[in-house]
Amino acid sequence: MSTWQIIYRGFDPGDEGRREALCTLGNGYFATRGAAPESRADGVHYPGTYIAGCYNRLTSAVAGREVEHESLVNAPNWLLLTFRVGDGPWFDPARVELLDHEQEMDLDRGILVRRLRFRDGRGRTTRVVQRRVVHMAEPHLAGLETTLVAEDWSGPLTIRCGIDGTVTNSGVERYRELDGRHLADVRTAEIGPDVVVLHARTSQSRIRIAEAQRVRVLVDGEVPDATPVLVRRDGVIAHDITADVDRNAEVRVDKIVSLHTSRDFASTEPVAEAIEQVRDAADFDDLLRSHCLAWARLHTAFHFGLSTSEPAQQAVRLHLCHLLQTVSPHTADLDVGIPARGLHGEAYRGHVFWDELFVLPSLTLHLPQLTRALLRYRYRRLPRARKAARDNGFAGAMFPWQSGSNGREESQLVHLNPLSGRWLVDHTHLQRHIGIAIAHNTWHYHQATGDDEFHQDHGAEMILEITRFFASLADHDHSRDRYVIRGVVGPDEYHTAYPGSNRPGIDNNAYTNVMTAWLCRTAVQVLRELPAGRRGELVDALDIRHHEIDRWKRIAQRMFVPFHGDGIISQFEGYEQLAELDWAAYRRRYGDIQRLDRILEAEGDDPNRYQASKQADVLMLFHLLSAEELAELFTGLGYPMPSIPDNIDYYLERTSHGSTLSAVVHAWVLARSRRHRALEFFDEVLASDLHDTQHGTTSEGIHLAAMAGSIDLLQRCFAGIEVRGGVLRLNPLWPAELGPLELSIRFRGQPLTIRVTGRTATVRTAAGHTREPVTCACGSRTIQLGPGETARFSLEPGAAGTTTC
Ligand code: BGC
Repeated sequence: MSTWQIIYRGFDPGDEGRREALCTLGNGYFATRGAAPESRADGVHYPGTYIAGCYNRLTSAVAGREVEHESLVNAPNWLLLTFRVGDGPWFDPARVELLDHEQEMDLDRGILVRRLRFRDGRGRTTRVVQRRVVHMAEPHLAGLETTLVAEDWSGPLTIRCGIDGTVTNSGVERYRELDGRHLADVRTAEIGPDVVVLHARTSQSRIRIAEAQRVRVLVDGEVPDATPVLVRRDGVIAHDITADVDRNAEVRVDKIVSLHTSRDFASTEPVAEAIEQVRDAADFDDLLRSHCLAWARLHTAFHFGLSTSEPAQQAVRLHLCHLLQTVSPHTADLDVGIPARGLHGEAYRGHVFWDELFVLPSLTLHLPQLTRALLRYRYRRLPRARKAARDNGFAGAMFPWQSGSNGREESQLVHLNPLSGRWLVDHTHLQRHIGIAIAHNTWHYHQATGDDEFHQDHGAEMILEITRFFASLADHDHSRDRYVIRGVVGPDEYHTAYPGSNRPGIDNNAYTNVMTAWLCRTAVQVLRELPAGRRGELVDALDIRHHEIDRWKRIAQRMFVPFHGDGIISQFEGYEQLAELDWAAYRRRYGDIQRLDRILEAEGDDPNRYQASKQADVLMLFHLLSAEELAELFTGLGYPMPSIPDNIDYYLERTSHGSTLSAVVHAWVLARSRRHRALEFFDEVLASDLHDTQHGTTSEGIHLAAMAGSIDLLQRCFAGIEVRGGVLRLNPLWPAELGPLELSIRFRGQPLTIRVTGRTATVRTAAGHTREPVTCACGSRTIQLGPGETARFSLEPGAAGTTTC
């Protein structure tokens, strides 16, 4: 098996959900889970097709109250394809003798192949091979090619190909009490002997979705004498094609599907577009060729050559594949954010969280136009964030913890603890730090790309408005003469209130407070560095007064940061007074305690009582800011710089890693001090979805931030590649265990190839007389590298430093 493949042999009903998620095919515009074409949602299979940004709201009665939820809609299932011999039963792998079953996901070219052989109740043996793509070049197209061979029988074979509009959102067990019927007005039509169409609209957002299919059948390369029979019932449309098949004959069915919505550009209306495109589409073989070329182009832009152990390589390739299937160059034209669970399942209802903090940097080095587009998703929702701030009595822009269609707060008001069966009031929307993530990403994009146009038109405004919000969230505490932020939730979602208190939120979450100080400094820098004309415009338009800027400066100097013990940053004020948890006892009793919050609640206890964190919270500071930046911040605030290793040790002992993000952050913060431990966390990141380390969550969608985070860890953390201030900065500390890394990046529009091993990095610029020299810095050296030149930097003790040729 190559590391560009994932192969699942046999059929394992208990594992089908995970396999479907990991065999999802997508192109940034839409994605379809790797469900078997003949399957329906039945507890084992879950066919799901998700269109980026296609949300709908429904109201349900839960725990005695009416709640409205917005979800990424499960679109009509275009995969539907089944068959039967004579008037026998339709193919169902559970009711035949399955002789072979294999699924192969090609991570290089985004092709899913399924091979199976079975013997039916009458002893007939049939071989089937299915290949499918969601087209990477033509974002509205998908194809499913099915080849059947009658190994030892002859007779009439009927193939049913169709589209199923009866699907609902029911992929996540915990949400099943909520209404999941998002599709309304499902209509179908036969357009011709080989084309049918199904269209529907989402019930509340009224997005029209149209899917048209074209089917062509060949028996031993010849068009059979068969007239398709239309099957139309209850929101399903299909064509049945019956052909007489001889022993060993090969029947080939090409199903091409076109999917359009009323959100598309360059479109009159989706039904007409879907029909026209599917009629004109090339055949499967040609589509496969153009699809592979598009993937090859993508791999050139995002070349990531890792020569580590095969399992690690395979996991990284899996991650890259799913990252690029969720956000591809097509995303640049869409108004979409990063759904935390990809376009691969329904967990978190397709919402957009702070997870982009872990995704955008990995894209920026290769496909910066995608980061720009994803930041535009936030910018378009700035007016709503302003309204949210205003409605809550704050200034500036308060972005929602969970975002969907229009940027309204989409966090759930109640959630179900599956262990206790209780619906609980949910305060996680108090994670105001989402705004910090957006500002940090905006600033980082500006630093990495020097995209002044974006910065001046959108980025600076977002940073300033977010700063305003945090400055208004902060209160001056006269007794301390410091600024405090009360009633929030930090990244660690286990603590949403003080024990026994009815007041939601905790006070002075250190991550939020320190990052607010960072934000205030950054906002002042943004204003200072903007060209005078644009600065004047923004200051006028946003009505930023001197006293406001002065307040930002004061907050940057007087923000309160809670400490306890010997230089330990308290996760929030009073954290040290919480009880210590007997971790060993809980591990003994429950084995897996990642979701300690659910365990404790089910025991009638409360996670708020303990010094126990779901994920990195304080340690996020060491992830986002360099030791130098932190030292500057703490000094500016008048606090001694805390010991990073001591803080890591303290929180490492008190974290259950209930989020896959936790391992990313822990690998990062340990990389430069305890490499061995960092690599253990890195391995956990690689295993997150491949081995479903959270036991059952992968089937509900991949963890995109962990996937992208593994790539970010490799390139920005271990390889130490950063672009800042127009300079390519290299600080490699590459673990020898991982073998060398070779990757291509775009640096201010120029393609560069970088090879890293140990403490050495070699940079090669592309040749071409129109190209500008690039500035590279490593250690104390800074050099200019002309087109077609190579520089070797080494931080190894006693090495030559830098050589160029
Ligand atoms: C994590 C959040 C994350 C969310 C979506 C939660 O389990 O605690 O930090 O944003 O999942 O991935």
